[in-house]
Amino acid sequence: MKIIMLGAPGAGKGTQAKMIADKYGIPHISTGDIFRTNIKEGTKLGKEAKEYMDQGRLVPDELTVKILLDRVEKEDCKNGYVLDGFPRTIPQAEVLTDALGKVGDKIDYAINVEVPDKNIISRMSGRRACLGCGSTYHLEYNPTKKEGICDSCGSETVLRDDDKAETVKKRLLVYHEQTHPLIEYYKKQSVLYEVDGTMDMQDVFQAIANILGA
Ligand code: AP5
Repeated sequence: MKIIMLGAPGAGKGTQAKMIADKYGIPHISTGDIFRTNIKEGTKLGKEAKEYMDQGRLVPDELTVKILLDRVEKEDCKNGYVLDGFPRTIPQAEVLTDALGKVGDKIDYAINVEVPDKNIISRMSGRRACLGCGSTYHLEYNPTKKEGICDSCGSETVLRDDDKAETVKKRLLVYHEQTHPLIEYYKKQSVLYEVDGTMDMQDVFQAIANILGA
């Protein structure tokens, strides 16, 4: 089962992708997490990506595509995967379609988690991300058991640099210009499914599970 999560920044793609990965036993692949790990480790890729991410811009396709294609070729992706944050542009989607097509394969589900812009900014200001394992929480909707401490690994949780209101506004603009057209792209491939992302997290997940079956 090969799944793509679509939606604005903060729509809940990562939250749902993790739940899907756990339920269906497939890897959750987030290009944002790959970049953040590289930033933490101080790699060349991390330094380059950080410049774009801190401004709310997309990391250039030439840096992003190869990382993703290398990742989906790994052994653990044999039975499928859930992509979170990739593709984000039409050229990225075309590269993925071509790469899969060469081995007679395709994306099975592109799930658009729909949340209006007005809900996004408040959602992002309450998000907290773990510095250790990248798990995400929300101060109100999904708090950690102990304030400021990750439930999974015990590291500190913080507001991401790119979750400050001004950067979120820029990310939303970039989303509408460059990523939103993917909805039409996958609709044409007859694999687009829409879910209302303003519902409670568990209800959103139930709607997705109904689409995926079993
Ligand atoms: P990335 O990390 O992918 O960020 P994003 O797409 O902007 O998405 P987010 O992680 O911010 O949000 P999300 O939809 O996953 O929401 P979440 O589940 O956390 O990318 C960051 C940057 O990396 C990009 O800006 C770009 O620069 C670069 N990048 C990454 N991939 C790239 C690519 N392919 N090409 C080029 N550049 C790339 O939820 C948000 C909050 O809401 C959380 O606090 C959560 O707890 C809460 N929440 C979730 N669901 C609900 C709900 N139903 N009700 C209430 N609260 C909820």
